Amino acid sequence: MLTAKEIRESFKEFFRSKGHHIVPSAPMVVKDDPTLMFTNAGMNQFKDIILGNKAAKYQRVADSQKCLRVSGKHNDLEEVGMDTYHHTMFEMLGNWSFGDYFKKEAIDWAWEYLVDVLGLSPDRLYATVFEGSPEDGLSRDDEAAGYWEKHLPVSHIINGNKHDNFWEMGDTGPCGPCSEIHIDLRSEEERAKVDGASLVNHDDPLVIEIWNLVFMQYNRKADGSLEALPAKVIDTGMGFERLCMALQGKRSNYDTDVFTPLIDTISRLSGKKYGEDRQVDVAMRVIADHVRTISFSIADSQLPGNAKAGYVIRRILRRAVRYAYTFLDQKQAFMYKLVNTLIDLMGEAYPEIAAQRELIMKVIKEEEDAFLRTLDKGISILDEAIKVARKEGKNEISGKDAFVLYDTYGFPLDLTELILKENGMALDKVEFDKEMDAQKTRARNAAAVEATDWVVVSEGETEFVGYDSTSAPTRILRYRNVKQKGKEFYQIVLSVTPFYAEMGGQVGDSGWLVNGDDKIEIYDTKRENGQAVHLVKRLPADVTAELEAVIDAKARRATECN
Ligand code: SER
Repeated sequence: MLTAKEIRESFKEFFRSKGHHIVPSAPMVVKDDPTLMFTNAGMNQFKDIILGNKAAKYQRVADSQKCLRVSGKHNDLEEVGMDTYHHTMFEMLGNWSFGDYFKKEAIDWAWEYLVDVLGLSPDRLYATVFEGSPEDGLSRDDEAAGYWEKHLPVSHIINGNKHDNFWEMGDTGPCGPCSEIHIDLRSEEERAKVDGASLVNHDDPLVIEIWNLVFMQYNRKADGSLEALPAKVIDTGMGFERLCMALQGKRSNYDTDVFTPLIDTISRLSGKKYGEDRQVDVAMRVIADHVRTISFSIADSQLPGNAKAGYVIRRILRRAVRYAYTFLDQKQAFMYKLVNTLIDLMGEAYPEIAAQRELIMKVIKEEEDAFLRTLDKGISILDEAIKVARKEGKNEISGKDAFVLYDTYGFPLDLTELILKENGMALDKVEFDKEMDAQKTRARNAAAVEATDWVVVSEGETEFVGYDSTSAPTRILRYRNVKQKGKEFYQIVLSVTPFYAEMGGQVGDSGWLVNGDDKIEIYDTKRENGQAVHLVKRLPADVTAELEAVIDAKARRATECN
């Protein structure tokens, strides 16, 4: 049986033998294309060549590309974990021709590789062809169908509509008709009962698309019209994890050696077994999938954050933490411990993750710690809201409660919805939206903060010790006077702090600044320009004094300052 590493290499070797230049994967995070946040297909890095804006260095190239489908036109996030064959991050094996060979060779070589080289059984394979689209003035792709007829009986060649058989990168950009290769992995018995052709493109987990051959001929313009590309392009993409499943005789991508070492580590760390309980299995799949996405994003220098791509990554991480917390009983940071296993698996093909090992582990642990602190509190609030709603005979919680969770505890709305769904509940979305609008108005007004210049007591940066302690000896480094919503406060920066700083609209840790007998309340801690800024109503009598910063464990992140 071929291992995943061998399969990846064999693909590159095959196309090298057909005159292709093997190129490295492009980063998964896209920095310079306003139409795209993440690489969602192997062709992204060739977009300018395909559109004719840039000359191709090689007319034939092939690679294995790390892709992420979590936003925009191609978004699989909600499926991930629930079934056995969707992923956020996945690898796409692809070969390209820029104005060189076209449909015939693309089809013949795909067949040669799958059947002659890898030995997949031809009678389990199906090809789909574009049926045409009158509204776009396009007719059926008879040419592709003709080439397939050399390899497959007509009963295995299936017409597909624009949704399945006309591939587009996004709302605009390169596109064209495509032919997908599907494989039927069901048992002989099941196959005898139901014809595989009837299951193609019908969400059967064992009759799945493995390879998409796109015949790029057009550029979709912003007004929806199609413009011919300067040269015809072949763009193929094969789902690596699915190919491994087919070749390794498995019924789930997660049972291939792309994932089993990760699942084994999760199982060892959590003391739970895979394959005995559906919810545990879903959780393990979610975590095994998401840790790849998060690690590769960090390696591509996209850290979790509060906006855009950073927020997408943070949400994915939080989705995984929440599954680990609820179904694997992981109340402590845990995912960062999977990074070594992941690097053993993929570090050779993608050296960037091995090179960034420490950073990846550190960022994941920090994010996990931060979210776990809010999760505890948030889940108990949600449980209470569910109880109250049930008592009142309702099957939805108020939009206000959901908004507090979102706003104060950093719960993504989809997480609240997921927990509610598991409890047969929903939320009042209209009320939630109203709260959200009101918050936006409040934020606009509150943004008008008047502040004096910083007064520097002594030079230096804050050392954060919140992972190990809830109190620490400290001194004031700098302070300033601020007026917020008509009230006066001081913002202070400390030499050492155990307080976790939140960003944006969320409330950070609160507690005390102890100066002998004097206790000064710290209302909130915010991250500003990378530093933790604490909010107090007054300063100690001596601003150079030695102090003790103590977190109020009960009120942790629950105290509003007004
Ligand atoms: N662009 C096509 C896809 O993503 C083929 O690579 O499926």
